[in-house]
Amino acid sequence: MRTFIFILAVVGMTLLLYSCDVDENTSGDLTNIPYVPENYKLDLPAHFPTINTPPDNPLTKQGVLLGRHLFYDPILSADSTMSCASCHLPEFSFTDAKAFSTGIDNIAGKRSSMSLINIGFVQSGLFWDGRTKTLEEQALLPVEDPIELHHTWPEVMTKLKVHPKYPKLFREAFGIGNTSEMTKELAAKAIAQFERIIISKDSKFDKVQEGKAIYTDIELIGYGLYFDIDPDLPDMECGHCHNAPLATSDDFFNNGLNASNTLDDFPDLGRGKVTGSKSDNGKFKAPTLRNIKYSAPYMHDGRFNTLDEVIAHYKSGGKKSPNKDPLLHPLEVSPFHITALKAFIETFNDTTFYKNPDLKNPFK
Ligand code: HEC
Ligand code: HEC
Repeated sequence: MRTFIFILAVVGMTLLLYSCDVDENTSGDLTNIPYVPENYKLDLPAHFPTINTPPDNPLTKQGVLLGRHLFYDPILSADSTMSCASCHLPEFSFTDAKAFSTGIDNIAGKRSSMSLINIGFVQSGLFWDGRTKTLEEQALLPVEDPIELHHTWPEVMTKLKVHPKYPKLFREAFGIGNTSEMTKELAAKAIAQFERIIISKDSKFDKVQEGKAIYTDIELIGYGLYFDIDPDLPDMECGHCHNAPLATSDDFFNNGLNASNTLDDFPDLGRGKVTGSKSDNGKFKAPTLRNIKYSAPYMHDGRFNTLDEVIAHYKSGGKKSPNKDPLLHPLEVSPFHITALKAFIETFNDTTFYKNPDLKNPFK
């Protein structure tokens, strides 16, 4: 009888241990965690366009929170040293303030990191050449890029599935019932949600649009120069390619950075490599000038260190090539005009943006 009880006890214990093991490690059940997604409201000013949110990835507080963790977490890189935020730092307008970004293996890329400010409004394609359509698609790329995070998604997902925090964050964001449903696609959706809340909308430029502030005299002269609207001032043409309200036309141009006799000689073909059309060679995205103060150096190859160097480039009319945009021509402007233009561009800077607690590194 005693032996029988002993055997029963051993069997019972084994079963108990086995079931614990199943519960905690292999079954990955998450259904005991509440799934109550809350809408994330953007409160865009009236002079802003609406944001492009795909119907299958609406903004929720929980999705944004998960995306924010993934964006700042070096767990996405092979050696746990770098995250998206290593090359997109909030204090540098979500760039890395370098001409060329370097990934985990210390290999420098061929282009400068881009600002992510107001990235959710982009329609013409992401990157300097517009090669990727959506933020969801884009977010999958850096993890496996050999000169960026140089990891693999299966390995990243394995780490996230056994992490003390992520299974809960995925459940709360997407309602999955089991850790086995945690996928790279959901990770990318969450990162995209986080990126859509990187919005600058409280600059002086915005306050003037909303009737809450007025330009100083010098800013007003700069405004006239920038948008070609004052017949007594020279046209500086900026507003055609960096137009209101987002300070970008979201389009591609050759702004005369490289001299070239033919359409084949550009050091970086840019847009042309994506469309396959020769007339697009040497064209790049005209980026937003919002918060431009914080994102030096400038251009896709980081060739200019200051706004003065950029303006000197435009004043010269740029270098000759067959498809240089006709808006690039020598500008008859005085040092006073340049000072006024800079004063106006300064009104695109927004200092409250960084204070949005939802944009901060959650690990600090
Ligand atoms: C090693 C540095 C590096 C890392 C890490 C990195 N990026 Fe980037 N990012 C860049 C560079 C450089 C570009 C521009 C590349 C190009 O145009 O070819 C860019 C461009 C982008 C763009 C396009 C912006 C626009 O205006 O079109 C987005 C969005 C973006 N990155 C998001 C991310 C996300 C999300 C992560 C993490 C999953 C990430 N990046 C990790 C360097 C980096
Ligand atoms: C024909 C269109 C066009 C006009 C006009 C134009 N830009 Fe640009 N701008 C661009 C393009 C395209 C780029 C990106 C070029 C590249 O990196 O290859 C750019 C880049 C910039 C950058 C660097 C942005 C960054 O994030 O690196 C600044 C600053 C800038 N322009 C300011 C101006 C100012 C100021 C004017 C007026 C004097 C002006 N632009 C006129 C198309 C234009």
